Amino acid sequence: MSEFKKINASDINESVFDLIGKDWALVTSGSADNFNTMTVSWGGAGIMWGKPVAFTFIRPQRYTFEFIEKNDYYTMSFFDEKYRDALKLCGSKSGRDVDKVAETGLTPAFTEDGIPYFAEAKLVLVCKKMYSQFLNSESILDEQSVSKWYDNDFHKMYISEIKEVLTK
Ligand SMILES: Cc1cc2nc3c(=O)[nH]c(=O)nc-3n(C[C@H](O)[C@H](O)[C@H](O)COP(=O)(O)O)c2cc1C
Repeated sequence: MSEFKKINASDINESVFDLIGKDWALVTSGSADNFNTMTVSWGGAGIMWGKPVAFTFIRPQRYTFEFIEKNDYYTMSFFDEKYRDALKLCGSKSGRDVDKVAETGLTPAFTEDGIPYFAEAKLVLVCKKMYSQFLNSESILDEQSVSKWYDNDFHKMYISEIKEVLTK
């Protein structure tokens, strides 16, 4: 029996700046028998088209990108500090080369609809894609950010409805 309970997005009582920027998150997408996960520390959460949303930015060379592109849903799992090493691994190795579940010891869990997340998480956002678009150099008004962060591998931005929030 899952120890998670569902809450409303507006009842998340931790700072989204801390959750994403400091704690980091695992973005996970796919099905029970074929999924991948990676660490993110850029993004946000807010309101769009009258709905609670997450903003997620994924570079096209990530293996996880293929899963997010093929699936309508992904999850964002947030963890306590003791899982920092697992998040470092998931942010430095590719699922193309290693089995991240085996290497981290994290336990995959699945929503009623079969969407993957991790049982050790303290908070999970179940996200459904509403909008996706590659960033491009013409649209980035801060030129320094282009030269600083990109070598022609612009992130794809996803605006995704937060369909469920699971917490403990
Ligand atoms: C702290 C941290 C934050 C990261 N944030 C992002 C991000 O927001 N977007 C992104 O595309 N990659 C980000 N990465 C890089 C991916 O997590 C990394 O390339 C990962 O190995 C990709 O795994 P995959 O190929 O299995 O998808 C981050 C890495 C770390 C360590």
